[in-house]
Amino acid sequence: MVRSSVRYSSSMPMVKQVFSESSGFVRPFREIPGLWKNGVANLYNFWKMDGFKNLHYIMLQNFNTFGPIYREKIGYYDSVNIINPEDAAILFKAEGHYPKRLKVEPWNAYREYRNQKCGVLLKDGEDWRSNRVILNKEVISPKMLENFVPLLDEVGQDFVTRVHKKIQRGGQNKWTTDLSQELFKFALESVSSVLYGERLGLLQDYIDPEAQHFIDCITCMFKTTSPMLYIPPSLLRRIGSKVWKDHVDAWDGIFKHADRCIQNIYRQLRQDTGVVKKYPGVLASLLMLDKLSTEDIKASVTELMAGGVDTTSITLLWTLYELAKHPAIQEDLRAEIAAARAESQGDMLEMLKRIPLVKGALKETLRLHPVAVSLQRYTAEDIIIQNYHIPAGTLVQLGLYAMGRDPKVFPRPEQYQPSRWLKTQVHYFRSLGFGFGPRQCLGRRIAEAEMQLFLIHMLENFRVEKQRHVDVQSTFELILLPDKPILLTLKPLQTSQ
Ligand code: HEM
Repeated sequence: MVRSSVRYSSSMPMVKQVFSESSGFVRPFREIPGLWKNGVANLYNFWKMDGFKNLHYIMLQNFNTFGPIYREKIGYYDSVNIINPEDAAILFKAEGHYPKRLKVEPWNAYREYRNQKCGVLLKDGEDWRSNRVILNKEVISPKMLENFVPLLDEVGQDFVTRVHKKIQRGGQNKWTTDLSQELFKFALESVSSVLYGERLGLLQDYIDPEAQHFIDCITCMFKTTSPMLYIPPSLLRRIGSKVWKDHVDAWDGIFKHADRCIQNIYRQLRQDTGVVKKYPGVLASLLMLDKLSTEDIKASVTELMAGGVDTTSITLLWTLYELAKHPAIQEDLRAEIAAARAESQGDMLEMLKRIPLVKGALKETLRLHPVAVSLQRYTAEDIIIQNYHIPAGTLVQLGLYAMGRDPKVFPRPEQYQPSRWLKTQVHYFRSLGFGFGPRQCLGRRIAEAEMQLFLIHMLENFRVEKQRHVDVQSTFELILLPDKPILLTLKPLQTSQ
């Protein structure tokens, strides 16, 4: 079956005669504009343009050159790229029962090399689905918020306490700093407290060097992934390249630390004979549920831990940066938070239902600075997009970064406007920062609650300012990062008037 309102004959040579009721005859796959005839030459040009760091800018430029659909071959990756929300809708409707993303080859190569099991992030087919269905109930079901919010709220409050201490120690009634390291610790503390039901203590003055090493390993794992995306990792491994070795060391560090945390919980569960009174965390819940093998649980919990650090911390850093650039919007958010606090009388779950502008701010951050530059799916069936036939099994990428900056999709896209996400506006296939459908981000519920609670506490306590005349761009290291340190100044509210 072909999506889009068409009369269709399924044999490929007939594609030229396919008739789309909306726009006439459908054009064949080979006529999609773009540079896809010589993957090796394209890879060379991509490398010359420093494409590994500028992938998002190159995609934007390609849409400007070729229009809303283009085909591209870089190295061995052959993909069709799209930008319109309506086309995204067609794509996701054709993702099938087992949605499949672009494989991040170096990640899979590491698992093979070290004989490690894949979790849901890297599994496919029925194996992915059967694991994901069980994990969904424990990780992304809205009901779980009751368990997660008290834990994440405590971490948010502790972060504020830490900032107050830093300000006091500095003696200047303010703290100017690059918050990224602090935010990495905050994010790891948050995700660990939900996964293990207990605190790691990363927001104290002394932190476990192993935890710091874990954070460094995640950053290194992402950094070393992008240069290896278009070259077979087996080749890099054979020639003993530095980037492959660093990548292996980074994953080794991630697995080692996650394993230590997991072993700790096992030990406690074995010793604990009493009735569990408080929520024991995702890991213990999964073990007690006994529906997944221990190896599968370990693999996915390790991925949740690794996926839960740079993603939320960088999104929060960009959000603070945007709010520092837009003091009036910062005040609007603060006013919304004050009203929500008064109405919900200390009930944080209720409070989270009353902060649409704060939620809009996070969506606006992900529009302008998406963690993932693109979403990808292999089509499970033939589809028609922009009047081109796209056969089943094609890799199609939705350019999230490009879509977020397209004036046809978002009027005045350069402006940071959290209010554009309020209910009165059209959002059809526009809010896709966490992906879409059954394969969307598994950590979404944790990430959203963590970031909303962080902003509540920070904006209740501090005014955020930035240095004038410093404009920050982004660089691609598998996820999108600021291209230079973002220096922010935090001032306590009571005394900064
Ligand atoms: C701002 C924060 C975050 C953003 C923007 C984000 C974004 C994404 C995106 C775009 C995907 C791919 C979805 C798709 O293909 O449709 C994804 C997948 C995933 N994310 Fe996140 N993420 C965030 C935080 C987290 C956190 C905190 C965790 C862990 C607690 C996490 C764990 C995962 C996992 C395990 C997957 C793979 C799911 C699967 O393949 O079934 N993410 N994320």
